[in-house]
Amino acid sequence: MCGIIGFAKSGNAPLRCSDVLVEGLRKLEYRGYDSVGVAVVSKNGGFVIIKDVGSVDRVVKAPEFEVLDGSVAIGHTRWATHGKPSKENAHPHTDCSKRVAVVHNGIIENYLELKNVVLGEGHVFMSETDTEVVAHLIEHFKKLGAKPFEAFKKAVAMLRGSYALAVVDLDEPDRIFFARSVSPLVIGLGNNINFVSSDITAFVKYTNRVVVLQDGEVGYVSSSEVYVEFNGRPVDVSSRIRLVELDAQSIEKGGFPHYMTKEIFEQPYALAQTFSALQTQNISDVLRVLEEARKIYIVGAGTSYHASLLGAIAFKRFLGLDAEALISSEFRVISRAVKWGDVVIGVSQSGETIDTLLALREARERGAKTVALVNNQFSTIARESDYVISMRAGPEIAVAATKTFTTQVLSLLYIVARLAEFTGAIDVDYKALIQGLKMSHEVAQRVLEACTEVCKAIATRLAEKQSAYYLGRVFGVPIAMEGALKLKEIAYIHAEAYPAGESKHGPIALVEEGFPVVFIYLGFLDEMLESNVEEMKARGAYVIAVAQGDTVLGSIAKYSNAVVKMPKAPLEVRLITYVIPLQLIAYYTSVIKGLDPDKPRNLAKTVTVI
Ligand code: AGP
Repeated sequence: MCGIIGFAKSGNAPLRCSDVLVEGLRKLEYRGYDSVGVAVVSKNGGFVIIKDVGSVDRVVKAPEFEVLDGSVAIGHTRWATHGKPSKENAHPHTDCSKRVAVVHNGIIENYLELKNVVLGEGHVFMSETDTEVVAHLIEHFKKLGAKPFEAFKKAVAMLRGSYALAVVDLDEPDRIFFARSVSPLVIGLGNNINFVSSDITAFVKYTNRVVVLQDGEVGYVSSSEVYVEFNGRPVDVSSRIRLVELDAQSIEKGGFPHYMTKEIFEQPYALAQTFSALQTQNISDVLRVLEEARKIYIVGAGTSYHASLLGAIAFKRFLGLDAEALISSEFRVISRAVKWGDVVIGVSQSGETIDTLLALREARERGAKTVALVNNQFSTIARESDYVISMRAGPEIAVAATKTFTTQVLSLLYIVARLAEFTGAIDVDYKALIQGLKMSHEVAQRVLEACTEVCKAIATRLAEKQSAYYLGRVFGVPIAMEGALKLKEIAYIHAEAYPAGESKHGPIALVEEGFPVVFIYLGFLDEMLESNVEEMKARGAYVIAVAQGDTVLGSIAKYSNAVVKMPKAPLEVRLITYVIPLQLIAYYTSVIKGLDPDKPRNLAKTVTVI
């Protein structure tokens, strides 16, 4: 996930070029912070490009930054996806003639294919990024006679994947061309200045008049003009202008009150990004070792362990493989059982959790192959593993993991689907599975739209409680565990998860009038929950059901005090999205209790001690 900013101003706008860029880049730093770069159209008609690895504060200290002078500029904060953090890979990227500069957020899935086309014509690439190909494609179409904006549109039409693009072409130096697909992009309309950016926060200091672009829209801004088109037809965006109100603190979080809410609500985007990232990675080596594996272990800590549990059930249930999830810190205890021919998948958002790192080291020493499933592809776990699968869900700042759980589950299910394809498993419809995973971001969006209010109401009730149970069956158990962890972590309410059938073997002793019990009706073996919900209700439990809206099971209607109605979706999508209301419930409970969900006591985002 990266951040982009661009502005075009007239001579009448009293703003300094470097001030506007620094303000925008600082506000976008939450989207990525491994490198920073800008391209400014200088008075002599060329570009001044400054870029380097490091934070915004580091890069803007360069003496030439302070004296930047120009009316049209683009900037970028990078969170590396293709190519390590380096000066060469930092955006903006240019074409061979250095007349086109590009900043990009997203992933161009077919960049290798496109790169081969322009390489064949003698273009020379300076970076390892997927982005640079856009500059060369524009140059290519200009050489064929297209005007700059036409060349830009022709280049965009060739792209597959996700992108928010801002492009300056010195042959039309007053304009910034833009295009959006999946990755967010907004226009800011100021006085004698217009902006394009990934996020309103980057320019809200200068204007609060905003147009949010939609997928498939392309266009340009100049200091006096905003032009948008869709499918080749001009779009009148005047009716879409919104006035946004953001205070200084909320700006830091993209308009959300906490990083956690921001990360919960950006899950649709993160899921789309991760799916797209998975499709661009060649995982055939991983599939081969998994096919040959004697046994598959999946290790992780906390939330990553819960995703591992769900992944292990999927390996067993869909593919009949011998798979086991283990808590990283417990792995060494059983490691004598790990042998040559086994595969150990380490799941870690940060890629730095010491327990998971040590488990993977131990596994390698014992002759197993290791696969890192990480959000930070440059982390220690990624570096030390035999194979790496990178989720590219964007930085997660809140201590409580949210979007990285849903994207971890998506990634593990994607591996299962691809393995079914690779091994020719006849009883798994891998195409349908992949199709389901591809649409998970749309369902996540519907869940957020449909369920937030009821989750707030449930949180009001939970905020008064000392304890809660989360119960599910099979796949529902790790989801219940994740829901319980969230409530403990940020709302300081004791919460435990069990396979529902276990509840009568002890846990039910705690249940009395009003005791909250959350049932996860996944639409998979739900009938097995029937007797458990009856048992709980008979002891006075306050039953909260998370269930598909059209579920007809009598127990849900009959025994539930509150129901979170989930949209209808295939099982693989439900496995990803059912946790979202549990995240919302924990979040709102924390807020109602007056706590700070972003900074839970006693915790750290990444645990690097044993
Ligand atoms: C989850 O909300 C916690 N922050 C914690 O359990 C976390 O998932 C765990 O520490 C593992 O971190 P990792 O994914 O970076 O390895």
